Amino acid sequence: MRQVVWNGERLGLRDVTEADVPALHAIYGDPTVTHHMPFAPRTVGEVAGLVEAAMAAACAEPRLLYVMAVVDAERHDVIGVARLHIEADHPHSAEIGFGLRPDVWGRGAGTDLVRSLLSFGFKGLRLHRIWGARSPANLPAQLAMLTAGMVEEGRIRHHVHTPLGWRDSIVHSALEDEWIER
Ligand SMILES: CC(C)(COP(=O)(O)OP(=O)(O)OC[C@H]1O[C@@H](n2cnc3c(N)ncnc32)[C@H](O)[C@@H]1OP(=O)(O)O)[C@@H](O)C(=O)NCCC(=O)NCCS
Repeated sequence: MRQVVWNGERLGLRDVTEADVPALHAIYGDPTVTHHMPFAPRTVGEVAGLVEAAMAAACAEPRLLYVMAVVDAERHDVIGVARLHIEADHPHSAEIGFGLRPDVWGRGAGTDLVRSLLSFGFKGLRLHRIWGARSPANLPAQLAMLTAGMVEEGRIRHHVHTPLGWRDSIVHSALEDEWIER
């Protein structure tokens, strides 16, 4: 898919642009957001670099990487960032990652976001398998993925190296033929 515009009831997904750098920095630059992520809070310059790389990847053929701004459908502001990466060797399968601005947490947006990513991946991109890996201690991510229909598959030991050392991941997945859109 060239240009992503994927609108749900409460959230929309669209490709990131340079104008999103401050909004994305409010997410990736916040230590409460990166707490369970394998990297330290990003600087504005690092976020600008990520956006530039995402825009270049959006033009690749075939397109494997989708980095999308999460837009509040009512207020039209960017409240999060979502990533879907198709595996080059297994193009039926993609990994998702996501984060929201802390002031919107705890009101169902995370669960809605996972649902939107599944809908985009299965209906928009015709994928068969979508998976995500979380920190074992990340309860909100666990609950958001479970409620959206992503079952727990197992543990990858020492999957990522974080600023604090090696960390296991718990993998969740959903399959197109067992997914029920809600
Ligand atoms: C993960 C994240 C997107 C969830 O967003 P959210 O808007 O808070 O999610 P929801 O409001 O849909 O909540 C999901 C579940 O977690 C629960 N929850 C939310 N915050 C919680 C907290 N601090 N402690 C315990 N439970 C919490 C909610 O009650 C809900 O549970 P339920 O389904 O039983 O009702 C958000 O916490 C975030 O951006 N975290 C930082 C980045 C991150 O960890 N990304 C995931 C990487 S895999």
